[in-house]
Amino acid sequence: MSELSWALFRQQVAACTLCPLHQGIHNKVPGQGDVHAPLMLIGEGPGQVEDEEGLAFVGPAGQLLTRMLAAISLPRDRVYICNIVKCRPPNNRVPEEAEAEACKLHLRNQTALVRPRVIVLLGSTAARNTIGPEIRITRDRGRWFERKGVWMMPTYHPSALLRDVSKKREAWEDMQSLRDKLIEMGLYEDIYGHPTE
Ligand code: URA
Repeated sequence: MSELSWALFRQQVAACTLCPLHQGIHNKVPGQGDVHAPLMLIGEGPGQVEDEEGLAFVGPAGQLLTRMLAAISLPRDRVYICNIVKCRPPNNRVPEEAEAEACKLHLRNQTALVRPRVIVLLGSTAARNTIGPEIRITRDRGRWFERKGVWMMPTYHPSALLRDVSKKREAWEDMQSLRDKLIEMGLYEDIYGHPTE
């Protein structure tokens, strides 16, 4: 087997036909950001704008995500952002279990390459496919789970916040908890500058 590298990862995603989602898309959306970031964010799957541009979280939900990160002084280009599935599901439906399962090969590879210390799971699909199917986002958001030395926290997907503004207060608590975790792990001041008030 070839040694894992970003070149191999990109090539495997580009050539991937492991599930039917590649049919009818404009672009694969592998993910992007700082490949050495200690913080990785994982969403569900590309939407329309992401499919058109080949980049994760660049549509309205992505713009909100950028503002949420900025609110705790995290520049977006210093984190790594990707999705459970790398191809847009038709009409933005939730990826099927088999599609998410097939795409985990790519997610595992990119996690092995970035080696994040902290992972934020944006929404139920991301949380259930990484932490486990028992996760309920309304019950478990804001909780920290440790897996093989990596700290993971589920929170609401930014699209859910766009649909229901009443969730924003809890989402803000989760961002503060993220900032606290990064501070506690010594990853905040050094990497992201000065803590906010
Ligand atoms: N929603 C996601 O889950 N991912 C994106 O990249 C965009 C919207």
